[in-house]
Amino acid sequence: MDLMSFSGNVPCKAVAVHCFAGVDPVLVLDGASSRAFDLFKAKGKKGEFFRYPMEGAVNELFLVGLGDKDKASQSTFRNAVAETVRKVSKLGISDLAVVLPVAPDQAISSAVAEGAVIGDYRFDRYRQPKEGDAVVSVEKLYLKDGVEEGLSRGKVLGRAQIVSRDLANRPGNDITPQTLAEEAQRIAKEGGLDCTVWDEVKIQEERMSALWHVGKGSQNPPRFIHMVYRPAGTPKKKLAFVGKGVTFDSGGLCIKGREGIRTMKCDKTGACNVLAIMEAVSILKPDVEVHGIVGAVENMPDGAAYRPDDIVRARNGKTIEIVNTDAEGRVTLADTLSYASELDVEAIVDMATLTGAVATALGNYTAGLISDHDGLSQEIAAAGAKAGERYHRFTMDDEKLREQIDSPVADLLNSGGPGGGTITAGMFLKEFVKPEIPWAHLDIAGVDFYDKEFDCYGKGASSFGVRTCLEYILG
Ligand code: BES
Ligand code: MN
Ligand code: ZN
Repeated sequence: MDLMSFSGNVPCKAVAVHCFAGVDPVLVLDGASSRAFDLFKAKGKKGEFFRYPMEGAVNELFLVGLGDKDKASQSTFRNAVAETVRKVSKLGISDLAVVLPVAPDQAISSAVAEGAVIGDYRFDRYRQPKEGDAVVSVEKLYLKDGVEEGLSRGKVLGRAQIVSRDLANRPGNDITPQTLAEEAQRIAKEGGLDCTVWDEVKIQEERMSALWHVGKGSQNPPRFIHMVYRPAGTPKKKLAFVGKGVTFDSGGLCIKGREGIRTMKCDKTGACNVLAIMEAVSILKPDVEVHGIVGAVENMPDGAAYRPDDIVRARNGKTIEIVNTDAEGRVTLADTLSYASELDVEAIVDMATLTGAVATALGNYTAGLISDHDGLSQEIAAAGAKAGERYHRFTMDDEKLREQIDSPVADLLNSGGPGGGTITAGMFLKEFVKPEIPWAHLDIAGVDFYDKEFDCYGKGASSFGVRTCLEYILG
């Protein structure tokens, strides 16, 4: 998609005028000005969308309601433009001018570009076109008085979200640990990044026995992936992003039921987010060294699968007694977080579809932010607010809950039972991060996937977390 700024006359045939509730925009139509609200009997409420075909150089006018001006943020514009693009593309419109009721600054221009890029994204790699589909995509979008730099930044952010969604939407028979590693290598090659991939032999040699055990029951052997972006000059800071990369989570021998097993192709969302973030930084080139780390593995039941009662040793030397093979994400992260802790980084952020409990606690629109580090938690929450991704923070300083993951025969249990499941999962991960490194764990299990379109989300993988991490990196 081409994203451009314009001033003066509308440069294409279709224009979408966005307005706040109760703030009636003046439209200049065929040289005469009119009040839009009268024309459409509109109020500017969120979700309002009116179409007005016209004669002349501009032949389609849309009026889009944004809701209350007082509540407006960058996300208001990101979401509204995404919905506008989704609707006009279904009408066969490929060139669109967007007018906002505020002068778009750099941040708003970026949000608009993101919304435009992700608005009409659909996962159609595996389907024939159907009636009711968008007949075209929006190819050119002009933002009135937009900031070019913001538009080009937003385009990169938007595309990163599509990269993550596209990967996460691809099923387990397509994306295996090996093909995920190949995608990482492709992104690294195109972006000039370093990328190291370890196979199942090297994984064992490198003492990642926890990761290896989880993958033992699958025909598709595990892969460890480490991507690095290094800026040209001295980096301002060094950060590591770690993603849970379970390409399919059947539960293993503690197999899931027929309901719970559905959508478990999305159990690699954290990893897909990491690959997408690495692609974006390879293009935006911030003064920050960025590490992207993924333990890619498929969790399957089999004669060779790891079992309940098995005791496995992670890279940092700690042993884990397996209570439940379905609590596999944290077992893989034990090794990848240990590895990340060996790097000389100022902070580690992991993203993982880790616990069903987080969705019970917070629903499907807010992710868990589990961290005992106040500074990093505030930075992530602030980045999330800009990005329009909501977090609720949990701390882990609770002795009684911590007892739930004590094992009589090993250093830790891999499950603390249902009570406080999101926090005890965080406490487990904490054992594999060097205490001096600020660390935050984002539990995205409730927000990784939507089965209806709304705001800037389509059906399927959401890429939740990508915008937050990129805002955090870019500052
Ligand atoms: N991948 C799941 C978590 C999940 C559940 C993600 C629902 C998205 C939607 C994870 O591996 C898992 O199975 N967790 C268990 C942990 C339990 C066994 C301690 C859970 O949440 O039930
Ligand atoms: Mn599981
Ligand atoms: Zn899982």
